[in-house]
Amino acid sequence: MRIIKSINEMQRMSLKMKREGKSIGFVPTMGFLHEGHLRLVDYAKRYADVVVVSIFVNPTQFGPKEDLNRYPRDIEGDCKKLKSRGADIVFIPHTKDVYPEDFQTYVEVFELEKPLCGRFRPGHFRGVATIVAKLFNIVMPDYAIFGKKDYQQFLLIKQMVRDLNFPVKIIGVETVREEDMLAMSSRNSYLSKEEREVARHFAESLYLAQRVYNEGGFKRPVDVVRYVERYLSKFKGIKVQYVELLDALRLKEVRDFSQDMVLASAVFVGSTRLIDNRVLHKRCR
Ligand code: PAJ
Repeated sequence: MRIIKSINEMQRMSLKMKREGKSIGFVPTMGFLHEGHLRLVDYAKRYADVVVVSIFVNPTQFGPKEDLNRYPRDIEGDCKKLKSRGADIVFIPHTKDVYPEDFQTYVEVFELEKPLCGRFRPGHFRGVATIVAKLFNIVMPDYAIFGKKDYQQFLLIKQMVRDLNFPVKIIGVETVREEDMLAMSSRNSYLSKEEREVARHFAESLYLAQRVYNEGGFKRPVDVVRYVERYLSKFKGIKVQYVELLDALRLKEVRDFSQDMVLASAVFVGSTRLIDNRVLHKRCR
């Protein structure tokens, strides 16, 4: 496995692989890798000849009061995991090369960035779209793999690729969960033992709502949201930021169950912000 830190070298390497007729599968990450990330690597291997994984904690997607400086980092451990999982190249660019002092060009996906996390993290998705566009131009992948745990991010990247004609196919992978259903996340490492214990009820709330929905237990979209809110209100350690049921493609409000939907939520457990979602399939009448 090769580790590349220079943007130029990565670009030259990708061009070389393309000349040799090799397809490139790409997994962008911010590191501190867990089984969720590694599952994306498995997918990339299935689709492409060569797998590139990037590790870059992207400053432009963090708000001024967010956790950029304390975001967990373990490059050495990450590289070990990637090697044993069969990644071919790890791309670890320097922040000053990615964002030189006179950097001034951003990518914005105007509609999909607005709802859900966009309401509470202004500028976040602009940062995500910008770094992913830059990484696509550097790595030039044929396939790029994203987790559906970050559902809004996944839709937004697909939209950006369509709108800006990036020659890459976006693959979405189901959320990988811990045994108690908590969605894996680098941020779970912030949780104390007590917080970790209560966090499982967050995952549980969405799972149970999905089950009740599938059994026909809800009449209207608002009933689904209220169910989750009520469930979470039982746990003192969980503070809800939002619970929403939106249409699964455009993230617009729904009036009934006649389209596929995403039940998405963000909560705080202590000072740690967690997100999760479940897709509810349309009900045919
Ligand atoms: P990061 O949070 O490191 O996640 C990297 C990729 O792993 C994303 O596609 C994310 O959806 C996926 N992922 C994280 N947890 C997962 C889980 N439990 N199951 C399945 N997939 C999971 O998302 C980012 O980094 C950044 O925003 C990035 C796209 C790299 C741009 O900076």
